[in-house]
Amino acid sequence: MTSTATDLSALSPSDSPYLKGGYASVLHEITAPELVVQGELPRDLSGVFVRIGSNPRFHPVGHYHFFDGDGMLHAVHFEEGRASYRNRWVRTEGLAAEQAAGRALWTGILEHPDYRRPDGPYKDTANTDLVFHAGQLMALWWLSGKAHVVRLPDLETLGTQTWQGRLSRSISAHAKVEPRTGEMVFFDYAPRPPFLTFGVVSAAGELVHHAPVELPGPRLQHDIGITEHFTLLFDMSLQPDAGRRQAGEMPLSMARDRASRIGVVPRFGSNDDIRWFEVEPFFMYHVINAWEEGETIVLLGCRIANPLVGDPGNPRFEKAVPELGNLRIEPLFHRWRLDLATGQAREERLDDVVTEFPRMNDAFLGQRSRYSYHPRLAPTLTFLFDGLIRYDVEGGATVVHDYPQGWYGGEVSFAPRAGGSGAEDEGYLLTFVQEEATGRSELHVLDAADLAAPAMARLAIPQRVPTGYHTRWVPTAELARQRPL
Ligand SMILES: [Fe+2]
Repeated sequence: MTSTATDLSALSPSDSPYLKGGYASVLHEITAPELVVQGELPRDLSGVFVRIGSNPRFHPVGHYHFFDGDGMLHAVHFEEGRASYRNRWVRTEGLAAEQAAGRALWTGILEHPDYRRPDGPYKDTANTDLVFHAGQLMALWWLSGKAHVVRLPDLETLGTQTWQGRLSRSISAHAKVEPRTGEMVFFDYAPRPPFLTFGVVSAAGELVHHAPVELPGPRLQHDIGITEHFTLLFDMSLQPDAGRRQAGEMPLSMARDRASRIGVVPRFGSNDDIRWFEVEPFFMYHVINAWEEGETIVLLGCRIANPLVGDPGNPRFEKAVPELGNLRIEPLFHRWRLDLATGQAREERLDDVVTEFPRMNDAFLGQRSRYSYHPRLAPTLTFLFDGLIRYDVEGGATVVHDYPQGWYGGEVSFAPRAGGSGAEDEGYLLTFVQEEATGRSELHVLDAADLAAPAMARLAIPQRVPTGYHTRWVPTAELARQRPL
């Protein structure tokens, strides 16, 4: 499955490596009341760690892409020194329709889209990202869809959040909560104008701002940045390509003949207020953090220079990197400095190790931060993380945590130590880890300040936890403040 000698493009639809082994769906929803713990479970760890990912309920129609599957949640609830596990699908309309039909009804993004469907050509799987805001955990979709509200800790899908019916568009994965004001900044994108919108939901859960952004054309979007006063939006170089679609290819191209742009807009601003900064052509899935230093905006992320397999503009590559369909995953830790006084952008690569799904202590989101925690991509053609790297952008040591041989981890969430000093790295990192050969799965608890040490605790999960996407830590105090739909 992970041999670098595998030519993924030569595989037939049912041979997708992302339907097999460590990626294969789990079809049972279980509840395990008391997990066996190896090591010492920190007594102050109290809350729910949730991870979402792609888990197709039915065998796909046509070619399968790792981004296509139904959203499934895997959660560990820490309570009074004990831990329990649950997994549940996100109950989307699409999943319900397919369960009623007893088969897959939608094709995925590698197939020609079926625009005859009244609810859109793609199934809104809510499979991508989790945000906790105004007392609700919401599952969000990378192509922009509905915000599915999921109750904790039982993982029941309560329905979709429309903000009193005021949300006129959809919402993309990677809405962000500004920790000081409690406001949630969100965006959505579409193939027709306006190609991008952004908005704000207040701490009380009211949609208080929503504005369209003028872009020269449709763009693939994935994330935004927030600072104390601004939102950072992207006009990157990966764009839909109808010609390639006609040719039956992945309908994206990398426009290298124009600059990419990063837009800086006041949180409650409009299109006219956006300051656009021209930068080298790129694509990026994930922003790590952004903040203001006087007149300068600092942005950290995992930048991809050559995001498409088979792009004629690609240089000759020295090594293979993971592929997801035609997407080439070679993200490198990168910093941009955007000078509001001069309009100039400076950028620099901070490391040459490929990492994705970076996270940090979210209490520092939008403020100056030092540390980020990056899953390290394994040297395989499929998407696996063989370690975790802690970076310090203020010049401290880079610390590497290797998973045991043959085990692969995922995105971490940072859980602050209860009653601690509030230091940025005083807390725990949580992630699911899976042994590829056996499917044995564990949740690992790591000390964020001592990442070179072995896991403090390893919790045996009584079923396989497939490789997935994003994670969220919701502390017990927030569980009690949950709101019904
Ligand atoms: Fe993402």
